[in-house]
Amino acid sequence: MFRVGPIEKEKALLLAPMEDVTDISYRLVCRELGADVVYTEFVNAEGIVRKNEKTHRKLKIINEERPVGIQIYGGRLESMVDAAKIAEELEPELIDINAGCWIKGVVACGAGAGMLKDPENMQKLVKAVVDAVGLPVTVKTRIGWDHENINILEIAKRLEDVGVKALTVHCRTRSMGHKGDADWDWINRVKEVVSIPVALNGNVMTARDVVDAFTQTTADAVMIARGAIGYPWIFKDAKRLLEGLPVDTEISYVERIRVCLRHLELATTVKGERRAILEQRKYYSGYLKGLSNAGSIRQELMKLLEYTQVEELLMGYQKYLSTLEHAYANVHQEPK
Ligand SMILES: Cc1cc2nc3c(=O)[nH]c(=O)nc-3n(C[C@H](O)[C@H](O)[C@H](O)COP(=O)(O)O)c2cc1C
Repeated sequence: MFRVGPIEKEKALLLAPMEDVTDISYRLVCRELGADVVYTEFVNAEGIVRKNEKTHRKLKIINEERPVGIQIYGGRLESMVDAAKIAEELEPELIDINAGCWIKGVVACGAGAGMLKDPENMQKLVKAVVDAVGLPVTVKTRIGWDHENINILEIAKRLEDVGVKALTVHCRTRSMGHKGDADWDWINRVKEVVSIPVALNGNVMTARDVVDAFTQTTADAVMIARGAIGYPWIFKDAKRLLEGLPVDTEISYVERIRVCLRHLELATTVKGERRAILEQRKYYSGYLKGLSNAGSIRQELMKLLEYTQVEELLMGYQKYLSTLEHAYANVHQEPK
């Protein structure tokens, strides 16, 4: 059971924090399609404390997306405490500490996965954050720095001891980055040493993987990252599979276009038309993946600057697809 603050969910499906991907509009889309909890991208504690405008924009959450966690990162205890207090004022359901980011500049400051190198210091920092806020604090981390230094069991115990309410374990080491197989076996081992909820992360690319993750491990939740980029239906599909129901073998082009426009509409409301249109461009390839003639439509979409233009183009495209015998370029393509 994934029980954190007001969240109580059996086999919870979490949308992972992802920089430049999980902004409010995408979080809303994923919530509408079945994600149980969503997270902001990681937000820099120093930027929060310095009241950097761009950083503060990343903290913004809205009621419709709840339950939502704000994820913060940083290597300085004082800044992390102050940043957590500022994040708390926005009233997310939880505050998540990033202890998994592998990027050089981040780990060099003792932040992200850099924390794994000094478990004692990590525990001290996390305790200070836990003690400073009233909200539940959770941590997302990795199994260790590298294969010679896998210390997730020690880390998990230390974090539970200081009051962390749940853990997400990305089942790779820092040195693996996002490559190689995530070793899900670590989830059961972590569950044996702590009693707080544990979410599995890493290599969950399809709805079938979600089912496998819950079948093969004792995870309380599964956190989906890259599997949700361009394919927010993964949550809906996974829920159906978990209930023993069949999933659409192919998300219809009508549904793809509907969600793409819904996403843009939400983004326009949240961040204004111009920014929404520009930022939507990175999602088109996912939404239109596999559809006939999608490449040239994408090129056209890149030139547009108004919602109504995008809507018109996509509606025209939908009409065109309806005239084809097969809307998918490769009719044998096996969607996720
Ligand atoms: C584009 C991108 C951005 C990411 N940004 C964050 C982030 O802000 N915070 C975080 O904890 N992890 C971040 N991650 C890592 C993911 O949350 C996740 O741990 C990782 O991708 C492994 O899961 P997967 O194999 O299912 O993709 C990011 C990953 C990607 C691909």
